[in-house]
Amino acid sequence: MKVLVINGSPHIHGCTATALDEVIGVLNAEGIETELVQLGNKDIRGCISCGTCEKKGSCVFEDLVNETAKKFEEADGLLVGSPVYYGSPNGTVLSFLDRLFYSTPFSKHMKVGAAVVSCRRGGNTATFDVLNKYFSISGMPIATSTYWNMVHGFTAEDVRKDLEGLQTMRNLGRNMAFMIKAITAAKEKEGLPKVESSAFTSFPDGK
Ligand SMILES: Cc1cc2nc3c(=O)[nH]c(=O)nc-3n(C[C@H](O)[C@H](O)[C@H](O)COP(=O)(O)O)c2cc1C
Repeated sequence: MKVLVINGSPHIHGCTATALDEVIGVLNAEGIETELVQLGNKDIRGCISCGTCEKKGSCVFEDLVNETAKKFEEADGLLVGSPVYYGSPNGTVLSFLDRLFYSTPFSKHMKVGAAVVSCRRGGNTATFDVLNKYFSISGMPIATSTYWNMVHGFTAEDVRKDLEGLQTMRNLGRNMAFMIKAITAAKEKEGLPKVESSAFTSFPDGK
């Protein structure tokens, strides 16, 4: 069982990384393997809605998105961390997730998703909501904790003083591990729930 972890911050050892480390420590202690992708310091462009992925099964731009897609396909869970920039996930995270989720044809059904956000002062819940929407449109159950998954700080040192934030991360790790184990067992026993996908209505007739 494996969780793919994305650090959306350009700071490899910053606030977001400190929060993610706390979750990773628990996941590993629970026997869940993790692989960390450093995203935030990469040059990632946004989706251009070219439709190439619909034919090719991968993004037209050969970069970290397509590299990560293979890892995401194999993973049982996805943990995404983002710093808050103007009340939202940072631009790199948004560009990356738009392209990763849109361009990949494989099913994400029942892969467990979790978002973690880091802010100095505000915009954390709006950022958290944006990240969770990638999971909830993809049939991915969302792991939760004892508070919304956030830490506060401008530096990693600040985050290490956010004891409740770190506690929230550890509880998130335990819940995520439990969900992955439970879903893995249920999949073996019952298979995945049926998915209907033939309807695609956008009301072109104006009704
Ligand atoms: C461009 C930019 C915008 C930011 N906007 C916000 C914000 O809206 N709210 C906030 O509390 N902090 C904001 N911050 C501060 C960071 O989100 C915060 O310090 C975060 O914990 C840094 O995480 P990191 O060390 O993982 O990069 C902003 C920082 C930058 C560089």
